[in-house]
Amino acid sequence: MEKKLIVANWKENKTASQTTEWFEKFGAALSISRSRSKLSINLEVVVCPSFILIPVLNSQLSTLNSPFRLGAQDVSKFEEGQYTGEVSAKMLRDFVSYVIVGHSERREHFGETDEDVNLKIEQCLKYDLTPIVCVSSLEQVSTVSDVIFAYEPLSAIGTGKPDTPENAQDFAQEIKTEVGQNVKVLYGGSVNAKNAKSFVSQPDISGVLVGEASLDAEEFGKIIKTL
Ligand code: 13P
Repeated sequence: MEKKLIVANWKENKTASQTTEWFEKFGAALSISRSRSKLSINLEVVVCPSFILIPVLNSQLSTLNSPFRLGAQDVSKFEEGQYTGEVSAKMLRDFVSYVIVGHSERREHFGETDEDVNLKIEQCLKYDLTPIVCVSSLEQVSTVSDVIFAYEPLSAIGTGKPDTPENAQDFAQEIKTEVGQNVKVLYGGSVNAKNAKSFVSQPDISGVLVGEASLDAEEFGKIIKTL
């Protein structure tokens, strides 16, 4: 059976001490400890904090006997060199397994283009990182394999107004028709503990990308428990 992927996108939120607090509450919410894991074996949970918090969360999550992975929210389109402020795929691969690429907030506020997104995907693949490529329309879907797509309709991001599971399923099916039946498609946009299961139970949706609701450790724990 295919593993479902639950991805937390923390965006520009949390300090180091808030991260430690989140981690403690999250462990308690799921009743997980160093010696046992109550999580379903069919789930993989990925947390994507800001770059600076990745090592903090890395040392905490690695103490748990659970299927947790880390991801980054972005990556440089350049391999290395004179690009002040950038973080490369080569640097990230020591810490994370996944990278969110082309989020609509990056396209909107930082002018990221499809060309930038493609260069970032290339960097990820070169360094064995799995890109989670965010798309809000079929035009943004490029036919690269070895990536995970996340369908995030703009009207659903941070609005409390998710798309319907049926629309998300139709979109996922169209991506698969275009790219290949084996590609994974996630849904993102106002996912919470009440609606997560309705998306994940669609035949062509392999998981969810969660923003706001992942900041609250108890709510994120609840999402995981409903799946
Ligand atoms: P919200 O869950 O806050 O709507 O954010 C969705 C998102 O952008 C995840 O990448």
